[in-house]
Amino acid sequence: MVSGHMLVAFTFLALASFVLASDPSPLQDFCVAIDEPKDAVFVNGKFCKDPMLAKADDFFLKGLNKPGNTSNQLGSMVTPANVVQIPGLNTLGISLVRIDYAPYGLNPPHTHPRATEILQVVEGSLYVGFVTSNPENRLITKVLYEGDAFVFPVGLIHFQFNIGKTPAVAFAALSSQNPGVITIAKAVFGSNPPISDDVLAKAFQVDKKVVDRLQAQFWMDIN
Ligand SMILES: *[C@@H]1O[C@H](CO)[C@@H](O)[C@H](O)[C@H]1NC(C)=O
Repeated sequence: MVSGHMLVAFTFLALASFVLASDPSPLQDFCVAIDEPKDAVFVNGKFCKDPMLAKADDFFLKGLNKPGNTSNQLGSMVTPANVVQIPGLNTLGISLVRIDYAPYGLNPPHTHPRATEILQVVEGSLYVGFVTSNPENRLITKVLYEGDAFVFPVGLIHFQFNIGKTPAVAFAALSSQNPGVITIAKAVFGSNPPISDDVLAKAFQVDKKVVDRLQAQFWMDIN
């Protein structure tokens, strides 16, 4: 039999995960974000437009049919559709991206600190994966084809690699209006100012020269 304490603990855990798993729940139908606080209400970190002044364009974004420019060292590009592009997403806990991949293009290992992601391939084929947290650090991977979907749990390091000889396209939904992105290589070796090479040499168990070379590289992010 489950004791009263256990029951309380389980209830608390269930509630805590419900409350903390995504952006805060909205307290109103919507809260279209505006920069100008004059005549506005302040909710969940942004100013809301007067709901009576909200218009269709606040909830609208055009152009996701257009491929992103993948002419870069990674051969991929993310086109975001989050609260920055669609102010009506404010407080609603959801957003979207389009990702284009040149042949053998890579969306390099990265995490979203605030969102789980579900990605669907609409063209081509992708080798995707994520790594579970310590101590297992288990790599979970799959090859995806047109019409396949795959989930990257919140906060975990993940990647997508176009293994086809043709371009690939995917769309992904994310459980935050502002998922955030940390591109691992760029954050570690391309931080501003740089992390001390003593720190990185020890952390990566390599010679400082290796670290210096990595830090001298140009680290781009595609989202
Ligand atoms: C794509 O990006 C490359 C590199 O920045 C640039 O040279 C090229 O003009 C861009 N292509 C288009 C179609 O915008």
